[in-house]
Amino acid sequence: MNSIEQLLRQSIGLHAPAIGPASIERVVNARMQSRGLKRSEDYLELLKKSPVEWNALVESVVITETWFFREPQALAALARLVLNEWLPAYPTGRVRLLSLPCASGEEPYSMAMALLDAGVPPDRFHIDAADISARALISAEQARYGRNSFRGQDLAFRDRHFQSTREGYVLKPALRKQVHFHQANVLEAGWLKETGGYDFIFCRNLLIYFDRANQQKTLQALRRLLIPSGVLFVGPAEMSLAIVSGFVSANLPLSFACRTDDLLKQPVKQRPRPDRPLPKRNHLERLTAPASISPVAARKLPAGLAFTASAAPAENPPVDLDHAQRLADEGRLSEAAAICEAHLRQFGVSAQAYYLLGLARDAVGAASQAGEFYRRALYLDPGHYQTLVQWASLSEKNGDTARARILLTRAERAKPTALES
Ligand SMILES: C[S@@+](CC[C@H](N)C(=O)[O-])C[C@H]1O[C@@H](n2cnc3c(N)ncnc32)[C@H](O)[C@@H]1O
Repeated sequence: MNSIEQLLRQSIGLHAPAIGPASIERVVNARMQSRGLKRSEDYLELLKKSPVEWNALVESVVITETWFFREPQALAALARLVLNEWLPAYPTGRVRLLSLPCASGEEPYSMAMALLDAGVPPDRFHIDAADISARALISAEQARYGRNSFRGQDLAFRDRHFQSTREGYVLKPALRKQVHFHQANVLEAGWLKETGGYDFIFCRNLLIYFDRANQQKTLQALRRLLIPSGVLFVGPAEMSLAIVSGFVSANLPLSFACRTDDLLKQPVKQRPRPDRPLPKRNHLERLTAPASISPVAARKLPAGLAFTASAAPAENPPVDLDHAQRLADEGRLSEAAAICEAHLRQFGVSAQAYYLLGLARDAVGAASQAGEFYRRALYLDPGHYQTLVQWASLSEKNGDTARARILLTRAERAKPTALES
């Protein structure tokens, strides 16, 4: 079984501990049964010589869970950036966007809906979308969706862009033609090599399934595909991974957006001259990282739950949860966690502090500790929206779909009005 896990990690990046080795074992056992094999050694041999079986295994093992307007603040931020910055800066041409991985299409179609609904003309943007799963891409091309793809409370977009049929909600052709699907393995050299030069890339909820080496490899590839002033959107638990790999926060709250720091690293005279002008607004100003805050040593949290931060000790970090939230939005989760721990010591229990501690543990793959913090946050504040969403996402990742559903239903009820989009 270990050799099969290793093969999956090397070929598609899937890191067994991220989804639980038992999940891979279950899938492999089912595949072996369907091929009439009893020994995993024989199955490994079959995998090595049969592309058909290899593809079948990949299709069974990938997690294609997605829905429309997942993390809606990211889509709202994208629409604002295109409308307020990109279009005024480039009077002609198309803004280029990439959704990778796109799974069954909900993400790239949400990008298209967000842009069209914001008033971006359809001939001013081009969206590429890629995934390793042929099955997911076929669904994406069919663009027919069931209720599971619509999880928000505000589903007005469904009335605008879909036709309701007996077989499900069918996306209108005007929207479908905005998105161009490709099959690609992000870890294979040369994927999408003829494209590139993207202004905006969404790579959400993929890195969490990879080990550190494959996370870095993927982030380097994304950096090459992004133009110097481009923006990368990642998943909530992936921001710190991007920051560690040299991205900097784009300072767009709850959007989990970052930019490359390439421009900052180069002497002013040698900065690249793209064939089209950079946006008028000076991105460099916003690229400047805020003054760094270092963590406070954790003392009073129960053993095993204390967050071990690696940065140098701070002189006087403000023990302020808003500040901790801002650090978390920038992906500086260990610093945010240290502030939360100090806050708990100084002011006692707090749902927000536990939520941020959960997020920090979540980001480093410490699922059970993260769950414990989320549980504490909800005990104190059963309607804590961000905790409900994050814990749902963690449960889903761990295969606990029943808990994920319950938490998402509660999140929908608890959603603050300002976040409804
Ligand atoms: C959880 S979905 C994320 C979809 C969407 N980005 C979102 O956040 O809702 C993860 C997707 O990653 C795809 N995937 C996994 N490994 C991949 C790889 N090596 N290259 C490209 N796509 C991959 C899977 O097929 C799956 O559709």
